[in-house]
Amino acid sequence: MDIVVAPGGTLGGVTVVPGDKSIAHRWLILAATASGRSRLVGLPPSLDVRSTAECLAAVTEKARPPLDVFARKTAPGVDSAGSTWNAKPDATSRSSLEVEGQGRSGLVEPTAALDCGNSGTTMRLLSGVLAAAPFEATLTGDPSLSRRPMERVAEPLRAMGASIRTEDGHAPVVVRGTRLRGIRYAPIVPTAQVKSAVLLAGVAAEGETTVMEPVATRDHTERSLAALGAPIVVDADGIHVRRYQHEGFDAQVPGDPSSAAFLIAAAAITGSALSIEEVGLNPTRLHFLDVMDRMGIRTTCSIERTELGEPVGSIVVEPGAEIRAVRVEPGELPLIIDEVPVLAALAAHASSDSWFLEAAELRLKESDRLQAVATGIRLLGGVAADEGADLVIGGGGFDGGRADAHGDHRMAMALTVAALGARTPSRIDGVDAADVSFPGFIESLRALGAPLEPA
Ligand code: S3P
Repeated sequence: MDIVVAPGGTLGGVTVVPGDKSIAHRWLILAATASGRSRLVGLPPSLDVRSTAECLAAVTEKARPPLDVFARKTAPGVDSAGSTWNAKPDATSRSSLEVEGQGRSGLVEPTAALDCGNSGTTMRLLSGVLAAAPFEATLTGDPSLSRRPMERVAEPLRAMGASIRTEDGHAPVVVRGTRLRGIRYAPIVPTAQVKSAVLLAGVAAEGETTVMEPVATRDHTERSLAALGAPIVVDADGIHVRRYQHEGFDAQVPGDPSSAAFLIAAAAITGSALSIEEVGLNPTRLHFLDVMDRMGIRTTCSIERTELGEPVGSIVVEPGAEIRAVRVEPGELPLIIDEVPVLAALAAHASSDSWFLEAAELRLKESDRLQAVATGIRLLGGVAADEGADLVIGGGGFDGGRADAHGDHRMAMALTVAALGARTPSRIDGVDAADVSFPGFIESLRALGAPLEPA
């Protein structure tokens, strides 16, 4: 699906965003491996989360029927062509899913390969869970996922005793589970996916498992395990966990702050006020607000409650920001790993050059996002370059042009938001890629007043 973005609109109002993708993957895994019934409210119908549900359905028996229905049904509000154009705001609906877990020992051997689709989180986290299961499972993915590095997760799981095969470091990943033993593990690259895989394997292992992160990354796995009563301790030495079988639980998935980031940026670019409710406010996910603050964009967060260890509340954006250039230092990257495209979209409207330093990890995402961002902004008429591990965005705004999301959800949304501030209309191709994390993105923006039309 292609859209035309007209300049000059003003956004306004109160909105919500679909449930958090990172949290949804983890809570689905925890529900499917719990001993007893769980009820999850507000799971996002995003394609990545449905991939996790589909894979879990294949390795569970009692939990299978509802997981299958969630995975396979057409997402609410998404039309039969899979396009978000006609999506209604109920893509963010709070529908619930009940699954009957039979504990980790109740997992069953899948009869076919587990298709993780476009989702790296699905492939890496499930590798950790399956490393302790007494059977062999093969994890496959789409062409984008099949290009992404998998040895980073295979290596620590092998050290715990599992047999893991990759093809030249890539999917298919073949996991033969076993009785695991705890390890002390210091990943070289800070990655929440690998940390989470090791911790999920750690709760099934003999002895203690410790992960020593070089730089902090999102901590949803630690929070949910702690909220479920697992013996998990976080201290100066690292994150320590021991064997534990959790029980079923009830929880409502908070809105995804990484999706909210696109709406906040759209408000800032159009000088508008906006309020986003029921959104996750986990500090390991909100560093982008600090970067935006340095860019002159003022927001206020208010925590209202906690769900399975996750703070939830609202983010209010003040109108009338004058966007300033920013310099993002290497140590900040792990905490804004998913928000660089949207921050770059903002930076294109600043008055001078912005820098994102040592951001090479972005080359290993759903697309080479350093190159995709630089190319996309140039195609819209702006100035941008990816130089080695760095990204530089020239400010000054741009006239508008035509760019393609190339199947990357965050690029689809970043380009659309960037185009809202162009001097003439722009065309963005392939915006339905947004369904991977934010089904209903285009309709949400339109409901807030953004001037978007089908191309
Ligand atoms: C995620 C972690 C991040 C992020 C991804 C989701 C997670 O990846 O980019 O979108 O849910 O753990 P890495 O931790 O591998 O950088």
